Amino acid sequence: RRLENVRDVLRGSTRSGRVLMQGWVQGLRVQKDVLFVDVSDGSCSRVLQVIADPSLHSSNLTFGSAVEVEGRLQASPFPAQPVEIVASSIVVLGTCDPLEYPLKRKHRYSLENTRRYPHLRCRDPAFAALLRLRAVATSATHKFFQDQGYLQIHTPILTSNDCEGAGELFHVQSSHTADSQDARKEFFNSPAYLTVSGQLHLEVMAGAFRKVYTFGPTFRADSSQSRRHLAEFHMVEAEISFTQGLQDVIQEIEGLYCSVVRHILTSCSSDLELLRRCTAPEHKAKLDKLLSIPFKSITYSEAIDILQNSAKAFHFVPDWGKDLQREHELYLATHCGDVPVFVTDWPRELKPFYARQNETDEHSRMTVASVDLLVPDIGEVCGGSLREERESVLQERLNRLGLLDSYQWYLDLRKYGSVPHGGFGLGFERLLQNVLGIPNIRDVIPFPRLYHSCPL
Ligand code: 4AD
Ligand code: MG
Repeated sequence: RRLENVRDVLRGSTRSGRVLMQGWVQGLRVQKDVLFVDVSDGSCSRVLQVIADPSLHSSNLTFGSAVEVEGRLQASPFPAQPVEIVASSIVVLGTCDPLEYPLKRKHRYSLENTRRYPHLRCRDPAFAALLRLRAVATSATHKFFQDQGYLQIHTPILTSNDCEGAGELFHVQSSHTADSQDARKEFFNSPAYLTVSGQLHLEVMAGAFRKVYTFGPTFRADSSQSRRHLAEFHMVEAEISFTQGLQDVIQEIEGLYCSVVRHILTSCSSDLELLRRCTAPEHKAKLDKLLSIPFKSITYSEAIDILQNSAKAFHFVPDWGKDLQREHELYLATHCGDVPVFVTDWPRELKPFYARQNETDEHSRMTVASVDLLVPDIGEVCGGSLREERESVLQERLNRLGLLDSYQWYLDLRKYGSVPHGGFGLGFERLLQNVLGIPNIRDVIPFPRLYHSCPL
């Protein structure tokens, strides 16, 4: 007895003979002479239709139950599928009371409705499609870096640095009872946090391996309940040594973005098709624009000019030196033709200590060589910069921010074989929202963690 999965059977790798299938009932129709059971096993967006003699029906065979089906494959008379199973046995391995089962058929294909059942959500066909697409985007990300000669680094989850300096840290406590009361407050007696970014660890590694990347969970104690913020999200971060300028970083961001988008669009058509039942119809037309390379690029100062010239469109019009709000980010992407747009060369005070200082501009304003990528409907999806590699400039900056003591090791990197380098961090969930057209970030992650919500 060979165990088959739905995807392989429908692809035609198994065309005839006896098969054994395991999965969950997604549809059930009992007629006078024939029983139809649709079985899903998560391997693809489709179900495999099982036909059987009504004598194989039992009261346990219900929507949602787990079954093992044995039978013979035959060509299907239905145009929607190439084959079907004529069952000789249907064994219910796990019952599912249809009256109690919270995932009702009427809830299907509504990502929002299924949020109420985080432990059952993955059985919804649309959310299952989304999780498969997420896995494909993950592989495409690794493939991009590996094809470009990057080394993957597992940067730590626990860290003592606040890379972004924004104070959005989750403190880690130990519950080790052998320690004193005081020691229990901190991670083995010294402060530790959940990482907000693996960047500084990647910078260490870029000092030996030239091109490195990491892709893992990242944490922000951010009280925002917006549709694009999570307390735990995944960041794709890269660091590149021997850069010639910010353009080197921009090129890598663009290359990664397009490569992942292209991969999803070309290799997952049936999952994308299924997910379209939950997304806005106009999203499909927008997808090609995500691949219009090179992406537009404007400086922060140009962005401020654009925004000030359209002051009526906003609640608040930023002066030079103020951070952009989401309404500004969305406006800029639309203004540039509904395409991704890089905004470069930000005021120094808006970016963390590590960003490399530019020469002052014609108005004696201090900017840094940093870049944000803004995309339609979402806003910022990625941030990067050249890093300050000049020891004296970095020392002065750290000193001015009162960070010199904590970052001696970081300064060391500028003493021993320092090279021009830069990197970026891409919010993986925001990328998925953008490509898949999903308005709420809670619907693109298996188990969303956010302000006041960590249900299981
Ligand atoms: O702009 P951020 O804060 O940049 C950094 O952390 C850099 N150290 C990255 C680097 O250069 N290695 O975060 C990078 C991206 C953002 O552009 C956004 O897409 C995403 O991470 N992000 C979030 N995504 C979901 N929920 C949140 N709370 C997020 N905060 C940032
Ligand atoms: Mg940012």
